Amino acid sequence: MSEIIEVSSDWLALREPEDARARSRRLALATARRLGSGPIVIHDLGSGTGSMMRWLAPLLPGPQTWVLHDWNADLVEHAAEGVVPLDHERRAVTVRTRTGELAQLGSDDLEDASLVTASALLDVLTAEEVRAVVQSCVDAGCPALFSLSVTGEVRLDPRDPRDDVFQAAFNEHQERRVGGRRLLGPSGVALAHGLFLEAGWNVRSAATFWRLGDHDPRLLEQWFDGWLEAALEQRADLQVEGAGYRALRWSQLRRGALSAVVVHTDLLAWP
Ligand SMILES: C[S@@+](CC[C@H](N)C(=O)[O-])C[C@H]1O[C@@H](n2cnc3c(N)ncnc32)[C@H](O)[C@@H]1O
Repeated sequence: MSEIIEVSSDWLALREPEDARARSRRLALATARRLGSGPIVIHDLGSGTGSMMRWLAPLLPGPQTWVLHDWNADLVEHAAEGVVPLDHERRAVTVRTRTGELAQLGSDDLEDASLVTASALLDVLTAEEVRAVVQSCVDAGCPALFSLSVTGEVRLDPRDPRDDVFQAAFNEHQERRVGGRRLLGPSGVALAHGLFLEAGWNVRSAATFWRLGDHDPRLLEQWFDGWLEAALEQRADLQVEGAGYRALRWSQLRRGALSAVVVHTDLLAWP
C-alpha cells in the first residue's frame, strides 16, 4: 500500500460550497443528456466525503447508485453516514463505498458503471494512476466527468511582484515525489485529456474558477496559508522573503483587501 496523503474532512467541508459554485454546470448537464433515463450507477473516484455526489446527484436522472472510491476509509465512511442526497426526481440515492488505491483500479471495478466521476483528483495522482483510471473508463465504455483539476494558475489581487516565484514553487511542490510516487500536479488533467483522445474518445473541457475573497475569509485564509506553506517547503531558500510576503498578504486579508482566483479545468469524455 502506498503512503496515503491525508486530506482532512474539515478542509473538504470548508471548500465544498466553493467547489459546488465553481464546477461546470454546463458539462454536468451535457453529462445528464448522455445518460438518458435511469437507473444509473455512478462511480466517484477519490470521493473524499462525497462532495461531488452531493453536487451532481440532483442534476442527474434516477434512481441512482453511487459507489464512492477512496484510499482513505475514514473519509468514505463519513460520506456514507451523511445526509443522503436526492436525484433529479427527488428520490434518495443509494450509496456504496470501496476503499482502495486507484493504481489498482481495474475494468472489473467499473463494470456496472453508467458514469465515472472525480473532483479535485487528477492533480494529486501519478501518471500510472491516471493511466489506470482512463483505461478503466475506456473499458467501461461510459462517460467520465472529471471536475476541478488545478492548472497551476493563481491570480492574487492586488498583484505583488513576488507572486510568480511563490506560484512556481507551489507548482513544483505539487509535482513532488511522496513515498516513491511522483505526483502530476497541474499536468494531470492534460495527461487524462490526451489519453482519452488517443483512445478515440470525444473530450469537452471548461475553464472553472475558485473565486476566493472577503465573502469567505476562512477559506481564503486556509487556502493562502496552505499554498504559501507548500511553496516554502519546496523552496527553503525563500523563507525570508516568504515571511515578508506572508505579513503583507495577511494584513490585506484582515482588511478584506485580498482576493484570489484559482484556475481549474473540468473535463467530460465519452466514447
Ligand atoms: C482533494 S481530495 C478531493 C475529494 C473529493 N473528490 C472532493 O471533491 O471533495 C482528493 C481525494 O482523493 C483521494 N486520493 C488521492 N489519491 C488517491 C489514490 N491514489 N487512490 C485512492 N484515493 C486517492 C484522497 O484520499 C482524497 O479524498
